[in-house]
Amino acid sequence: MAAPIIRMQQVHKRYVLDGVEVHALRGVDLTVEAGEFLAIMGPSGSGKSTLMNIIGCLDQPDSGQFWLNGADVMAMDDDALARIRNREIGFVFQSFNLLGRTSALENVETPLIYAGVSRHERHARAREWLERMGLADRADHLPNQLSGGQQQRVALARALVTRPALLLADEPTGNLDTATSEEIITVLERLNREEGVTIVMITHEHEVAARAGRQLTLRDGRLDD
Ligand SMILES: Nc1ncnc2c1ncn2[C@@H]1O[C@H](COP(=O)(O)OP(=O)(O)OP(=O)(O)O)[C@@H](O)[C@H]1O
Ligand SMILES: [Mg+2]
Repeated sequence: MAAPIIRMQQVHKRYVLDGVEVHALRGVDLTVEAGEFLAIMGPSGSGKSTLMNIIGCLDQPDSGQFWLNGADVMAMDDDALARIRNREIGFVFQSFNLLGRTSALENVETPLIYAGVSRHERHARAREWLERMGLADRADHLPNQLSGGQQQRVALARALVTRPALLLADEPTGNLDTATSEEIITVLERLNREEGVTIVMITHEHEVAARAGRQLTLRDGRLDD
């Protein structure tokens, strides 16, 4: 059987600021199989972003075990972490984080430049992902010429164009009205079901979390069902 995309055991993370220690993650166990769509909920300060940063290889646990797609993340140095991050993870955020003076198409192409993909192939793959997101006719638009939902769909195309093993979405509907939020969650459902994209999503909204295949809650740095 294929390795899980995420396997974490007893992950701890502490922050020390001005001599004050915050124990942000207190022994997190988490397994996510390929093809899952998981929602993580939890109150402010419960450790959601800390956990996402660790899953996304932006930060490392203080102790515990963590394998991403079979690779032992605890054993990696900064270069190896950067490589696995670029290759295995796609990120989307509440605030879209698109490059402002750059067209939708060029935004989607950007990760392929870093991956060393030829110009011709970059164009083709970026167009294909914009098409999949229903934005074929918006390729030349700048972000500020797009609606919030369209910007988030560009961000999704950019996150997925390198075909990462895992999509991490931190409050992807947090800046959107109800109708647009519905549009984006429907896109996420479709990506999971039809493209087999494995998704871990943070959300505050119960209706959004309910659309994922599985829901977990972080409370005081611990995960429960
Ligand atoms: N860089 C840091 N330095 C010190 N403490 C931190 C740091 N980052 C987070 N913390 C603390 O760790 C705890 C968990 O923070 P985290 O950002 O993971 O919460 P969260 O669940 O994402 O909250 P929110 O819903 O408000 O985004 C909080 O008590 C926070 O103050
Ligand atoms: Mg947070």
